[in-house]
Amino acid sequence: MMRKVVRSFDEWRDAARELVARRMAPEFVAWASSEEEGDLFSAAPAPPLATPSPAAPVLRLPRELMEMLASAACFSAVDRWAFLYKIIWRWQLGERDVVSAADQDGARLYAMVKAVRREEHDMHAYVRFRERKEEDGAPRFVAWFEPTHEVLPQVARHFARRMGNATWMIATPAAAVLWDGEHLHDAPSLLRSAADIEDAGEALWLTYYRSIFNPARLNADLLRSHIPSRFWKNLPEGAIVPAMISAAANGERRTGQTATVGRRDGATTIMVTAERAQPQRDEPDTLDQCRRCELWRNATQAVPGVGPKHARIMLVGEQPGDQEDLQGLPFVGPAGAVLDRALTAAGVVRDQVYLTNAVKHFKWELRGKRRLHKTPAQREISACHAWLEEELARVKPEVVVVLGATALKSVLNNGSATMSAVLDAPFEHEGRWVIAVYHPSYVLRAPDEESRQQAYEVIVAGLRRALTFIPAPARSG
Ligand code: URA
Repeated sequence: MMRKVVRSFDEWRDAARELVARRMAPEFVAWASSEEEGDLFSAAPAPPLATPSPAAPVLRLPRELMEMLASAACFSAVDRWAFLYKIIWRWQLGERDVVSAADQDGARLYAMVKAVRREEHDMHAYVRFRERKEEDGAPRFVAWFEPTHEVLPQVARHFARRMGNATWMIATPAAAVLWDGEHLHDAPSLLRSAADIEDAGEALWLTYYRSIFNPARLNADLLRSHIPSRFWKNLPEGAIVPAMISAAANGERRTGQTATVGRRDGATTIMVTAERAQPQRDEPDTLDQCRRCELWRNATQAVPGVGPKHARIMLVGEQPGDQEDLQGLPFVGPAGAVLDRALTAAGVVRDQVYLTNAVKHFKWELRGKRRLHKTPAQREISACHAWLEEELARVKPEVVVVLGATALKSVLNNGSATMSAVLDAPFEHEGRWVIAVYHPSYVLRAPDEESRQQAYEVIVAGLRRALTFIPAPARSG
C-alpha cells in the first residue's frame, strides 16, 4: 500500500496526476490529510510503481470536472481524497459514466458538490460580524461560524470582495482567516466558540498577529519605518515586531509561518484586491438602519410590523423568530401558526389587525446548526421601545393585545411589569385598552397537552375580548 499525505486540493491534484501516470490503481493508495491521520483504507500491498513512459496515460480532465473535484475536496469525509482519486482513475480508463448521476460514484460526487455549495451559500448568508475595538489589536470585525464542510477559504474571498478595507477575521473550530485590509491570511483556530470573541483580549490578538506574520514577505526596513497594514497599526509593535524580525533573521521560521499555520490545509496567503468600502453606519432614521442596541449584528434584517394603516387592534409579540428573521415578516413561523389558529378560533381576521413585536431584531444563539431564540434583555427592549411608540402613534389602535411579558414591558415602558398582575384582565393605558395574554410560543413550550390547551385558551379568550372593545369590522364571518 502506498501512502500519500496531501493537505490541499492542489497537492492532491499533483499527486493524483503522478499516480495515474504511474498506473497506480486506487486500491493500492492510502490517502491521508496529515502525517498523524491513520491509514484507514489500506489492505492491499502496493505493486511496484511503473516508471512513466511516453505511452503512460496523460490525465486530461475537462474544466467542469476539475471544478467539481475542487468543490468535492471541501466535503468533510475521511475518504474524500481516495474517492476523488477513484473518480479520475475511472475517467482515465474511459468510464465516462463516472460523472453521471446514475452511476454510484457519480451520484456521490454530485451530492458532495451540492452539499459544499450549499454550505458556501449558508455561510455567505449567516456569517455575522461583531464589531470590536481596534485599540485592543483586534480586527475591526470578528465572526464565528461552524461550517460542516471546509469552505472557509472561498467564503473568505467572498467577504474580502464585499467588505472593502475594514479589517476582519472569520474564526471556525478548525481554522481562521484574517483580512488585514489588503490581504487574506490563514491563521490557526485559537477561538473555541462565539463567546470567546467577547472574551478575547490583546494577548489573543497578538498571538494571531504572530501566527500570520510571514517573514518570507518581510521587508524589515519598511516594517520598521512604517507598519503598512491597517491591521497592525494599533498593535504594540514596539515590543512584538522587532522580536519577530530577529526571529525571522535567525531562521526560526523557516517555512515562513508558524509550524501550526504551515501545516494547515489550503493556500497560506491569498491576494485579494479590496473592491468596495465598508458602508458607513449613520444614526437610524429608518428601522433598517437601527443600531440602538447590538441585536442588528446577528440578525438578517429588522422585522417591522405589518397590517392596515389604521388597524383598530394591534398585537404585540416579543421579537422575530428564525423564520421571521429570514422572511422579514412577523409571526410566520411556528408561533405564528399557533397565533393563526387562535385568531381564527376567536373570529379575528389576521389581515385586519396590525402585527408587530416589542423588539425588531432576532436575538438568538447557535445550538448545533440551529439558531435558538434568546429572550431579549431589558436594555434591548428599551432600545427598541421608540419603534413601537412610533407604530402606536401612527396606527392609533383602540386595543393592544400584548403577547407575553416582553411585549407587556415594552407597551407599558416599564421593565418591572409582570404578566401575573394583568393576565386577561383588560386595563386602560394611555387612552387605549390593553389586554395581556400568553405568548403563542408559551403554548408550544408547555410541558403537557393540558397546560398547552389552557395557555391556548387564554390567548383565544383575550383575542375574543379584544373584539368586544370595537365594533364589527375586525371580526371574521
Ligand atoms: N415570536 C414573536 O414574538 N414574534 C414573531 O414575530 C414570531 C415569533
